[in-house]
Amino acid sequence: MGEQLRWGRRYAMVRPDHFRIDYAINPYMDVHDQPDPLRARAQWEALRDVLESLGATVEVLDQRADAPDMVYAMNLGFAFGVAGDAAHGSAPGHGRVVMSHMRHPERRSERLTAAPWFSDLGFTPVDVGRDGVGGYLEAGDAFCWRDEVVAGFGPRSDELGLKALAAELGTRVRGLQIVHPGMYHLDLAFCPLDSTRAMVCPSAFDLPGAQALLELVPEPLVLSEAEALTFCANSVVVGRTVVMPACPERVRSQLLAWGFDVVVVEMDELHKAGGSIRCLTNPLDIVVGRDVPAAPGGELQIAR
Ligand code: ARG
Repeated sequence: MGEQLRWGRRYAMVRPDHFRIDYAINPYMDVHDQPDPLRARAQWEALRDVLESLGATVEVLDQRADAPDMVYAMNLGFAFGVAGDAAHGSAPGHGRVVMSHMRHPERRSERLTAAPWFSDLGFTPVDVGRDGVGGYLEAGDAFCWRDEVVAGFGPRSDELGLKALAAELGTRVRGLQIVHPGMYHLDLAFCPLDSTRAMVCPSAFDLPGAQALLELVPEPLVLSEAEALTFCANSVVVGRTVVMPACPERVRSQLLAWGFDVVVVEMDELHKAGGSIRCLTNPLDIVVGRDVPAAPGGELQIAR
């Protein structure tokens, strides 16, 4: 039995006060299929309540009126503390946040509100990437897991962005190329469950990426493309409870057999812009040197 993840008990979330589909930057979005604002808000609140009932803390950040996708708080940036710093992790303060540089200009205003918010919470913002030069980084494409940061690139983050992330975090980053347009962020195809287990959808990646990921995960719960497209990998784990937007029967049986509890929270309004539970929650309690080994200077390894 793997050990529980040490992070995932404190999250940033953005209340969907201005959630709309103004543009289409992924295959799920359709400006003619707008979310119902009241249902979206109720689903978001149900998610927050479930996380809190499991003992997690949720810090809420206001949504900008000009940023309909800002509800997907995961994408705002990668927040972390460093083990051995005077204070880190659960205590507010003394962390850093590598702010995302979004691929699509439509999402770049989110940073204007998010950076000062993280800063007030004690995470000093650092920026990566420049327009036109590459260096895109979208949090949601990177997870600390076992010996390194597992990261996706292709549709959103690029290699330069991952290189900058490795340097800022001071860790090894393993880059896996995503090729599936419906799984444009890593968190749609990969979900760490504990220290040895993870949900993995190989068809999101190119061949070397899929092979590398299957080699990294000692006990993979391999998802078919159809299973992953239910958003079931876009789940969060609090202790041994997996909070999921959908859970195909086969996936449920394996999770239960491994000793996890499954809680399903309906999220269909939030799916209309192509995101689900993981996308709506950004962990604030990751500690480099505890959750992932430090590798001073950082290093990016691409699976080719
Ligand atoms: N509409 C958003 C976008 O395309 C959805 C983001 C989903 N977030 C995630 N972590 N996968 O950018």
